[in-house]
Amino acid sequence: MKLGVNIDHIATVREARKTDEPDPIKGALIAQDAGADQITFHLREDRRHIQDEDVIRLRCAIKKIPLNMEMAPTEEMKKIAIDIKPERVTLVPEKREEITTEGGLDVYSMKDYLKQYISELKENGISVALFIDPDEKQIDASVETGADAVELHTGEYANAFSDTEKKKELERLKRAAVYAKDKGLKVFAGHGLTYTNVQPVAAIMEIEELNIGHSIIANSIFMGLDEAVRLMKRLMLQARGEL
Ligand code: PXP
Repeated sequence: MKLGVNIDHIATVREARKTDEPDPIKGALIAQDAGADQITFHLREDRRHIQDEDVIRLRCAIKKIPLNMEMAPTEEMKKIAIDIKPERVTLVPEKREEITTEGGLDVYSMKDYLKQYISELKENGISVALFIDPDEKQIDASVETGADAVELHTGEYANAFSDTEKKKELERLKRAAVYAKDKGLKVFAGHGLTYTNVQPVAAIMEIEELNIGHSIIANSIFMGLDEAVRLMKRLMLQARGEL
């Protein structure tokens, strides 16, 4: 199973002071050396963490593993992606006032727009994933857009309060992962995953990659980024019997 390390919140700390440290590109290199399989970043419309210059520097620095650019499906972002050419783009919904991405992309209601949008990215050699809720209607719509993959939103699972609710959300993720894989999509997952809740999701064999940011960066304050990445990967592989 693969781990995509999301480095946004290294830039969040830097932007708190609008200075040049900590440098998210340095973080990406440390994560790469610690066994990350991919570097994920979100260039938001309001540039609250990752900046345009970071994206250019990331593209120059990260050569051994793929770059996964999360972005809203806007014309501005499409131009940047085609220019930078990350190996993958993950399309996400974006609202200015939200603290973090809330809910998946409503692929169903923007199917035709996305079909055209995705074909332009793919013509430029970029593979495309759609960040969606674990919902069959959204998976069917994703297939119709020509996307290569879906990333299932694990936020409801992560936020579930009771064990019963958690179990219900986990079953929903499992069902969606099986359904999406059967339809020929690659299946990834992410959002709100931590050292304590990652293993049941990692154990879903249809999911081949997790993208994790906040918890890794938060814990790196105490254990260092290298160990924070290694520990997360170890927990994931243990859960699948791959270690
Ligand atoms: N996957 C997607 C599509 C996201 O938008 C985010 C948050 O930027 C993540 C994964 C990582 O979420 P977290 O920071 O909660 O681990």
